Amino acid sequence: MDRQNGFERVPLGATDIQISPLGIGTWAWGDSVFWQYGQSYTDADIDAAYQASLAYGVNFFDTAEVYGLGRAERLLGRNARQAGWPVVIAAKFFPFPWRPSLFQQRRALRKSLERLGMERIDLYQMHWPFPPRSIDTWMEGLADAVEAGLIRAVGVSNYNVAQMRRAHAALARRGIPLASNQVDYSLWQRKPETSGLLAACRQLDVTLIAYSPLAQGVLTGKYTPENPPPGLRGRRYARSLGRVQPLVALLRELGAAHGGKTPAQVALNWAICKGTVPIPGAKNARQARDNAGALGWRLSADEVQALDRASAQAGR
Ligand SMILES: NC(=O)c1ccc[n+]([C@@H]2O[C@H](COP(=O)([O-])OP(=O)(O)OC[C@H]3O[C@@H](n4cnc5c(N)ncnc54)[C@H](OP(=O)(O)O)[C@@H]3O)[C@@H](O)[C@H]2O)c1
Repeated sequence: MDRQNGFERVPLGATDIQISPLGIGTWAWGDSVFWQYGQSYTDADIDAAYQASLAYGVNFFDTAEVYGLGRAERLLGRNARQAGWPVVIAAKFFPFPWRPSLFQQRRALRKSLERLGMERIDLYQMHWPFPPRSIDTWMEGLADAVEAGLIRAVGVSNYNVAQMRRAHAALARRGIPLASNQVDYSLWQRKPETSGLLAACRQLDVTLIAYSPLAQGVLTGKYTPENPPPGLRGRRYARSLGRVQPLVALLRELGAAHGGKTPAQVALNWAICKGTVPIPGAKNARQARDNAGALGWRLSADEVQALDRASAQAGR
């Protein structure tokens, strides 16, 4: 574990990029389809979330061209330029079936750079492993982008073990490490453990970036069967909200034993203890500050095991 101005830093895969052991996700920054952008939070809240993240030592921000149809990249880029403090930005290319060529991949990258207002993206990820283009072809395009100086590192997202190994091998032929694989991972979604993906990441020195690490707010403890999350999330988690409450109770108990940590902080710390980099979404300064409070301390091995058991009992 390295430190930068006193803040914890870990390497991003086998690259020389140093990131905080926890990042911030920006899907909700500008999205009013799944999230409630413009209703329960505004651009001012997002700016405050950015500043709070920096103040509490977070230097890693995840975005994508599809978040808010480009608005998330614009908001993130504006904040990064105004703050003038070096941060690590991860963006993503979405392989829509109507954009199957490397020319289109490069054009999408240039548009992301434009929206971010930057000359280079630190980590550029394939958002999904969708056909028709082969993984090898997409990796060739991304290796070319590294060589052209447009991106520093290459990542993938939602790739299974076989797909990740294929991407890793294709990049290795060009002398470039696969830096990361971003997947759904939390106390509510443990598939990367049972599928062997987490083990394969460790073996290949690929950082597993854990998305939805709070199960989209459910692991914060604020949602119950009587008070479900708003919008589309309500339906997604309807059947789980009752079953997850004993797990939430354990998150509270362990948080209290660590000097008043919140359930969100304990859930994120669990993901860090597993060797992953969680990227919780934060819509305002309070959430960003709370999530950053998962840094600077660690659960014990026994506590991690207790959470493993409680999460298995909560099922999915
Ligand atoms: N690669 C992919 O396919 C993919 C897919 C999904 C997500 N992601 C990435 O992962 C990031 C995080 O995932 P996510 O946003 O789906 O889920 P998440 O991080 O598990 O949950 C985020 C939501 O939980 C609530 N929340 C967050 N921190 C909180 C706190 N401290 N206290 C109380 N409530 C809190 C907020 O919503 P409310 O206040 O409305 O409850 C927030 O929008 C995304 O922003 C995105 O960057 C990637």
